Amino acid sequence: MVNLGVLASGRGSNFQSIIDAIEEGSLRADIKVLITDKPDALAIDRAKRHGIKHIYLNPKEYDSKDAFFEAITEVLLNMQVELVILAGFMRIVGKPLIDAFPYKIMNIHPALLPSFPGLHGQKKAVQYGVKISGCTVHFVDEGIDTGPVIIQAAVPVSDDDTEESLSERILRLEHKIYPEAIRLFEQGRLSIQGRTVKIKSQRAQEAFLINPPIELH
Ligand code: GRF
Repeated sequence: MVNLGVLASGRGSNFQSIIDAIEEGSLRADIKVLITDKPDALAIDRAKRHGIKHIYLNPKEYDSKDAFFEAITEVLLNMQVELVILAGFMRIVGKPLIDAFPYKIMNIHPALLPSFPGLHGQKKAVQYGVKISGCTVHFVDEGIDTGPVIIQAAVPVSDDDTEESLSERILRLEHKIYPEAIRLFEQGRLSIQGRTVKIKSQRAQEAFLINPPIELH
């Protein structure tokens, strides 16, 4: 069992995929709190529907970025959170939070890192003309989408793909690999060597399931 704290700014479909995995019994986790930086984030409605405590913290009420992230850290520590999940949280994480949760903050990015970090990963992939893209779950460090990669999944990009169609295809895989990454953490199977995340006792077949070389549709 692992205690989670989720940070979100918007729609919260990844948050929902984690709720669903817990409720169907495939992920042994307890979501202690959802923190949002937007009062109207759709993720809040999801928290309400599932009886999850939710807190809105207004960044404008803090003197500095560090002060805002200190407040977030305090909430998470008070709630006995062990792993922090960024689920569409549209801010670069501040040092106070990173220092309090070393290699215990995960993010999901809608591209195959290190390609296309930052905003609009799907649009950048379409514009660049890559033939394969996907999504990445990684630990968070102080850079923008630069932390150690935990798992990735790939999708094909076709000539007629738009940002929207590719985003939709990638999102379906995001909803599979994010709960899977948390499951690996909960099972104590993730370790860091340098900037590489090792997954303990991963069988070849399991690696294939977690990191399908490509998902056709
Ligand atoms: C996802 O595409 C995720 O990869 C990115 O932000 C988006 C959040 O979507 N970090 P949602 O709020 O989880 O629906």
